Amino acid sequence: MAFFSILLKPLQSFIHKDFHDVFQRMTLLDKFLFLVVHLVDKLGIWHKLPVFMGLTYLLIRRHLHQEYNLFNVGKKPVSVRSEPADFPFRTADGKFNDPFNEGAGCAGTFFGRNIPPFDQTHTLTRPDPMLVATKLLARKRFIDTGKQFNLIAASWIQFMIHDWVDHVEDFEHQIELRAPKEVASECPLKSFKFYKSKEIKTDNYGHNGIKSGYLNRRTPWWDGSAIYGNDKERQQKLRTFKDGKLKISGDGLLIVNEDGTVSSGDVRNIWAGLSALQALFVKEHNLICDALKKEYPKLEDEELYRHARLVTSAVIAKIHTIDWTVELLKTNMLLAGMRANWYGLLAKKIRDRFGHSGVTFLSGIVGSRKPVDHGVPYSLTEEFVSVYRMHPLLPDKLLLRNINGAPGPNKSAPLAKEIDMVELIGTKGSENMSKIGFTRLMVSMGHQACGALELWNYPMWLRSLISQNVDGTDRPDPVDLPSLEIYRDRERSVARYNDFRRALLLIPISKWEDLTDDKEAVETLSQVYGDDVEELDILVGLMAEKKIKGFAISETAFIIFLLMATRRLEADRFFTSDFNEEVYTKKGLEWVNTTESLKDVLNRHYPEMSSKWILRRSRKRHTLRRGLGLLE
Ligand code: HEM
Repeated sequence: MAFFSILLKPLQSFIHKDFHDVFQRMTLLDKFLFLVVHLVDKLGIWHKLPVFMGLTYLLIRRHLHQEYNLFNVGKKPVSVRSEPADFPFRTADGKFNDPFNEGAGCAGTFFGRNIPPFDQTHTLTRPDPMLVATKLLARKRFIDTGKQFNLIAASWIQFMIHDWVDHVEDFEHQIELRAPKEVASECPLKSFKFYKSKEIKTDNYGHNGIKSGYLNRRTPWWDGSAIYGNDKERQQKLRTFKDGKLKISGDGLLIVNEDGTVSSGDVRNIWAGLSALQALFVKEHNLICDALKKEYPKLEDEELYRHARLVTSAVIAKIHTIDWTVELLKTNMLLAGMRANWYGLLAKKIRDRFGHSGVTFLSGIVGSRKPVDHGVPYSLTEEFVSVYRMHPLLPDKLLLRNINGAPGPNKSAPLAKEIDMVELIGTKGSENMSKIGFTRLMVSMGHQACGALELWNYPMWLRSLISQNVDGTDRPDPVDLPSLEIYRDRERSVARYNDFRRALLLIPISKWEDLTDDKEAVETLSQVYGDDVEELDILVGLMAEKKIKGFAISETAFIIFLLMATRRLEADRFFTSDFNEEVYTKKGLEWVNTTESLKDVLNRHYPEMSSKWILRRSRKRHTLRRGLGLLE
């Protein structure tokens, strides 16, 4: 050992000073792997490498994060073992997925961590969240994503958030933020109140020092809970109890209740775009029930429901992995990487023909022999929530198209009118949605670019937002969402930007110019944070960071994706050991295997819309998919 220490000594000057400690703690193999990654990072070239080398870099990086960036919060699992064969289906609240920890991924359990908490009790309002939101986040003029990402894609990610995460609030503690004088005239709200996040003590002092945590109201498994609900009670309300099906209204939209709220798995803070996707996948579930019943006439309501839920959830996970993500990270390397996550490096054709080889690397995570949690029970994390704070994706208006005429060049539809986004949220949104109809909304969203994740692009209408309760009813008073988000990350002890990067083995910034080339941004950052780059909030850093060509998100956010996108699949028995004909049925598995994109799902339910308004696949790799990429 001493011999190696002597050998490694000269490397200390090569390694960035902030990584000396973690480097010391690494195993010898990890030290070596870290040096490879660090060298590439110093040269700033990983995204410019040829595909194979780039994928190798990402594989190494992912391994390091699996070793050093997964922290359990709360009780370590007791060694109770449940029998997977007793639960060959996704339970209502996510329990019994992991045979060694029945509660992992269950609704109401702790958010995990990728980075140990950075206590900010004394800096919760430093700098003032409303000042930060006003000076650095509030939209000045709408910046869009050009031809990269459409409004369906923005709704899609909200659809996923509604499957995965939502913090439980503490209704006994309200907090008020007031606009500081210097920006008060620019703030739509001079003050606003909200509930604290509910903080729960852990019994975990000795283990990793994480003394408290926050609870996730949703099941973090990729189990379609946005349409099925997170508990038995909601699940029962949504079912017809006939042939496994879910309730849906005659016009193909979600059922509107008497009080104006809609019926779905999760209806909090929804808008027309999200509820359209919820409705589409309820139809998908019902169609799967029909196909299964036809193939297996003896299956009863409960069995049909369970199989159809598994299949629908897998279709959603697959679209996200090989359709949505490759639009978000539009490079050949990520296209290959995401397809490798699902199908493996040997690609779909070989996998379809010969089945899973047993080697994840070659045949993909999906269908691999057993789930893997890297010694940390599955959960989604606080940092995952922070990097998914993507409200700037939302525009100010929906550009509603006329779909009665013939399509123009590139299947474009003429603009009919503009509708303010506030008209499309909550109960008013559901009312307007039924007037617009599914097809017109989808075509319009497909032809509209969504907002870019940049500074000064956070919608102003979200600065005075009537947010909602879990049941979809409106709260009495508005909130200033960007200011609240700044506060939330600090309240939940999420590291600020530079510490966030350090903990992910990314080289931190030492001056504002390291973050951005934009002079106005540099000036405003120094006005708000002075010279102290350590104070920079994670949300602001993610928006300000220079983006890699083809990436709609920052590199910092991407690293969390790299780790967690894999984890969502590999820790889940229904994507690994139980992704088989016995659990899904032969027909069900075939359904998943033959669905490649959102366009395939739209084709099944709205074939006319699909052929009239959606472009066919192009042979060029970068324009392969036309479901979530811009339609024109
Ligand atoms: C009209 C559309 C939307 C509305 C009205 C809305 C509203 C809200 C509200 C009120 C909160 C809770 C804030 C708090 O108390 O901490 C929230 C949280 C959040 N939203 Fe949105 N949102 C919308 C779309 C989106 C989209 C497109 C994304 C994209 C990823 C997104 C991601 C999130 C995330 C990650 C959280 C944090 C969840 C948590 O704390 O566990 N939202 N949103």
